[in-house]
Amino acid sequence: MPKAYIDGREIEFSMGERLNGIQAAARAGIAIPHYCWHPGLSVVGSCRMCLVEVGTRDTESGRIIMLPKLMPACNTPIKDGTVLVTHSEKVARARAMVEEDLLLRHPIDCSICDKAGECSLQDYHFRYGTAERRAEIRPFTSRKRDLGDITLFVDRCVMCSRCVRFTREISGASELLIIRRGAHEEIDVLPEQPLNNPLSGNVVDLCPVGALADKEFLYKQRVWHLRRSPGICTLCATGCSIWIEQNQDRVYRIKPRENPQVNHWWICNAGRYSYPRIHDPKRLRGTVRRTGEALVPVDGKALLRELPDRLRSAGRLALMLSPFLTVEEAYLACAWIRSLDTQAQITVGPIPRDGEDQQFSGGFRISAQKCPNRKGVEEIAAYFQPGGPTWSEWLNAAGRGEFGGIWVAGGYVDPWIDGPTARQVRRAGLLIVQDLFPTPLSDIADYVLAAGAFAETEGSYVNARHRLQVARRAVRPPWGNRPCGPLMWDLLGRTGLYDPRRVLSEVAAEIPYFHAALGEIPDIGIDLRINQLAEVTQRQPVV
Ligand code: FES
Repeated sequence: MPKAYIDGREIEFSMGERLNGIQAAARAGIAIPHYCWHPGLSVVGSCRMCLVEVGTRDTESGRIIMLPKLMPACNTPIKDGTVLVTHSEKVARARAMVEEDLLLRHPIDCSICDKAGECSLQDYHFRYGTAERRAEIRPFTSRKRDLGDITLFVDRCVMCSRCVRFTREISGASELLIIRRGAHEEIDVLPEQPLNNPLSGNVVDLCPVGALADKEFLYKQRVWHLRRSPGICTLCATGCSIWIEQNQDRVYRIKPRENPQVNHWWICNAGRYSYPRIHDPKRLRGTVRRTGEALVPVDGKALLRELPDRLRSAGRLALMLSPFLTVEEAYLACAWIRSLDTQAQITVGPIPRDGEDQQFSGGFRISAQKCPNRKGVEEIAAYFQPGGPTWSEWLNAAGRGEFGGIWVAGGYVDPWIDGPTARQVRRAGLLIVQDLFPTPLSDIADYVLAAGAFAETEGSYVNARHRLQVARRAVRPPWGNRPCGPLMWDLLGRTGLYDPRRVLSEVAAEIPYFHAALGEIPDIGIDLRINQLAEVTQRQPVV
């Protein structure tokens, strides 16, 4: 096996594996500072922050020959016998000079910069810079430029060109460019062609300093106040891995979480800016019972006593599962309804769709299916009722008055049902609706239960490519709102706190489609190694 030597540490890599100096050093547990290099973009080797000493070691004699000049690690392919020295006086001097050069023109406005706390320039300066500044300190002078979806603080830019390469290589829209030359270089857009594409928010994440600012996040929070939780974007069937960042139960930012199997380093703007819905004042709150014309609040304990009795006496039962539910929620909801009526009719609600799948030049895909868990929920429904009714068959049966009691486990983020369809469902004697926002159906339901938003829910989703991912709860739901999982857990009489991991283990043990998850359930939020679901079940992806 080929070997390389990083600061005296030996690393092995396989034949054909293409590593550069930064990646090889990371494998040896050594971080090489860098600005312009990013694993998802082409290599330009322009910032020179990653300069290291490079040499080769003769395998026979063990003799090492070093190159006289420092080389950029990002642009140094690692071969058998490559030697890198990342900590030496020469390297330290080069890093300090790069830092000093970058800070010559950089306004020292960390106290008002959004990036403070997660800024590479700031961090590297303290780690690799010199203690004394020879240039004059510039006051808060950064010029602002509106580039379209985002704001550029012109003077903070270190010209790493990651953002420019992103728009050329990943989003494919090429709106960003570099104008002027030398020390006068700046990022800009062409007149009448602002940065405006569905992936534009990623340039903010790519920016190693505070030059590109997210208009939605600007001046809202200092980053050191934020706590992040691993989540899954629920706005389309791609199911991107995300970080949900919150402070005191308020979500301020969503960022991509690296996942080579799903979204690499990127997310779309729809997912990135989906969090205001979590705090939308129009959301349903608490639980209410319709008594005549009045809506009477019902507390949690009373609800647990009332619902089973009312459903048992309602006659034939029916359940609608929304494709926004987690696997665990769908499983518990089916188990609960079947415990009351073994013939209960189970269906999956309408699948929201918008146009066609969008594929970008870098391979990123936005699914036309605007829900996160169609496959997972369909598999659960099919397990409890093989060959069960489609949504329209179920609706027709409801319209004919075949169901005495209906439970609608919604959770849709956009309007999903119209008045006539709602009146069809209302033919049931008892109608219980769980949802996020008021709909024509919740307006006429006997019980309205406020559901939990995606950041308030813990559980797993199966994306359009049969990949199961686990999301962790990031914030607590508003007082009185109960996500479907914990509610069903209590209704089923299970004791202790809601445990989605336990439920997923049961699902994996019982349902063949999920067998691959058996014994493979990792810590919540850490990506699962069970993307082989499709192969396990021999199912073809449903488009
Ligand atoms: Fe290597 Fe910029 S990271 S030159």
